[in-house]
Amino acid sequence: MTAPGGSNSERVLILAPQGRDAQIAAGILREASVPTRVCNDLDCLCAELAGGAAAALVVEEALNTADLTCLANWITEQPPWSDLPFVLLAHRGGGLERNPAAKRLSETLGNVTFLERPFHPTTMVSVVQTALRGRRRQYEARERIAEIREAEALLERRVEERTAELAAANRQLAAQIAEREKVESALRQAQRLEAVGQLTSGVAHDFNNLLTVVLGNVNQLRKTLSEPAVKRRLDMMAQAAERGAKLTAQMLAFSRRQKLEPKPVNLNETVLGMRDLLQSTMGGSVRLETVLHPRLWPAMIDPTQIELVILNLAINARDAMEVGGALTIETSNVALGPPQRPEQPPAGDYVMVAVSDTGSGMDEAVLSKVFEPFFTTKPVGKGSGLGLSQVFGVAKQSGGGVSIDTRVGEGTSVKIYLPRAAEGAAKAERIPAATLAQRRGGDAVVLLVDDDSAVREVTAGILQDLGYGVIEAGSGGAALDALDAKVAVDLLLLDFAMPGMNGAEVARQARARRPDLPILFATGYADAAALLVANEAQIIHKPFVEAELSAKLAAALGRAPAGDGKVVKLKG
Ligand SMILES: Nc1ncnc2c1ncn2[C@@H]1O[C@H](COP(=O)(O)OP(=O)(O)OP(=O)(O)O)[C@@H](O)[C@H]1O
Ligand SMILES: [Mg+2]
Repeated sequence: MTAPGGSNSERVLILAPQGRDAQIAAGILREASVPTRVCNDLDCLCAELAGGAAAALVVEEALNTADLTCLANWITEQPPWSDLPFVLLAHRGGGLERNPAAKRLSETLGNVTFLERPFHPTTMVSVVQTALRGRRRQYEARERIAEIREAEALLERRVEERTAELAAANRQLAAQIAEREKVESALRQAQRLEAVGQLTSGVAHDFNNLLTVVLGNVNQLRKTLSEPAVKRRLDMMAQAAERGAKLTAQMLAFSRRQKLEPKPVNLNETVLGMRDLLQSTMGGSVRLETVLHPRLWPAMIDPTQIELVILNLAINARDAMEVGGALTIETSNVALGPPQRPEQPPAGDYVMVAVSDTGSGMDEAVLSKVFEPFFTTKPVGKGSGLGLSQVFGVAKQSGGGVSIDTRVGEGTSVKIYLPRAAEGAAKAERIPAATLAQRRGGDAVVLLVDDDSAVREVTAGILQDLGYGVIEAGSGGAALDALDAKVAVDLLLLDFAMPGMNGAEVARQARARRPDLPILFATGYADAAALLVANEAQIIHKPFVEAELSAKLAAALGRAPAGDGKVVKLKG
């Protein structure tokens, strides 16, 4: 309820239930332009207080014996800025010090001014106006407090927004740091594999030259010596050299320097064709399962190499499993996003072969090293640590990649990704076993070029045994001189990696002189240049045995006659 001439917050509530006191007081105040509201009892006063008031003018006798609970409650529950002023009209001599009732009222009402009766109306007006001034100060304080609260709320909102922004920026930064660390670690890993690859291919290349000498000489000796005890020893030497040759082949596979002959291959057929071999490799205690995609894309891969890869993975799986494990070989078509690790393939479509086991799994430390050549956790003599290196090299060199999912104690799944061959491509082909027919050299003369005299000597020996005439040259220059001198030569057998003029360069210059001269390259590894200038029929891989050399020479010459086996030596 609003008093005439002002809002509730400006009005003075009057409680003077007896006689005409209330009307008189209201009249006096109205004359001083103070809005009022007269209450007939204490309950009315309490109710009106709740509606708002600037002060209360109360006669002492209206409160003396009354139950003040509602009033006391209202007073204590005022907001912090509010302390409603009371003007108490007391009896003469009703001062606090002598009147216990007045003391009780003073304590209950708090902000109270005693006005002893009788009083002059001006006194009452001035006391009430003082109270109103105090009350207005309280209203101002209320506004200040509201403003401060609002500013605080705004500040709090800003702080929250800023904190959220900072947290978001922080999360983003953390994600970027994590991403960067991942990329850096992938880069480090790639660089390490690259460095190890170069080292490995260098070692393998040199060893292939040495093994060519060992194998060639052993085989020569085997032919000339008949004593059984000596023959047995030579057989052992030959076996060791062949084992060495297998190791260097694996090392070259890792360093992606082997000659691959990719063809469109149906990997489902490859896997099915290997079932018996795999089951016997696994032994009876391991279950073999195949999950083959019914519409598998053809993969572009060297069929022999992928069989080796699958076999390698199966052997690793077997070694990791106890009795009762399961080996699953799965094929499927996959579309991959950008790689997370160096061994994974670039984004694109791939044919996947997964070899999964229920074995021991690998921890992070082992996993980070498995592709490195010679890393093995197997006892001496059990593993050479070249299996996964070879898998990695073949997959990468074929344009695909590898990924490994593994959990310690649960198992491992190695996935090989191979590039998808064009649809409708030829069906899977198996490489026919090399036909290593022994053919005789006839009257053909081979110009043999190798800077390594030991390799040259043993190769010349083999050529002679095969019935070829041999002219040896220790360098490309010497070989070209021989051609310039019109020496009769039917075939050029060229070492690829030579100091000065390499095999490719010698071949180019030889062709300029004799365009029809057949050329066969001997190489310890198929380096990029060799891959460019020659096809597989024009390459013989060191270390080679007599039968291989014979087959390649005969194929290159396109004939198989017999000859006298003369050797002519030219200066290197
Ligand atoms: N399926 C697998 N489960 C658990 N560990 C594996 C698995 N495959 C590979 N490893 C771990 O990776 C190491 C390297 O494997 P890799 O095939 O390169 O070499 P290897 O098997 O030890 O020897 P090699 O294959 O030359 O005979 C293994 O010694 C083994 O610790
Ligand atoms: Mg292995």
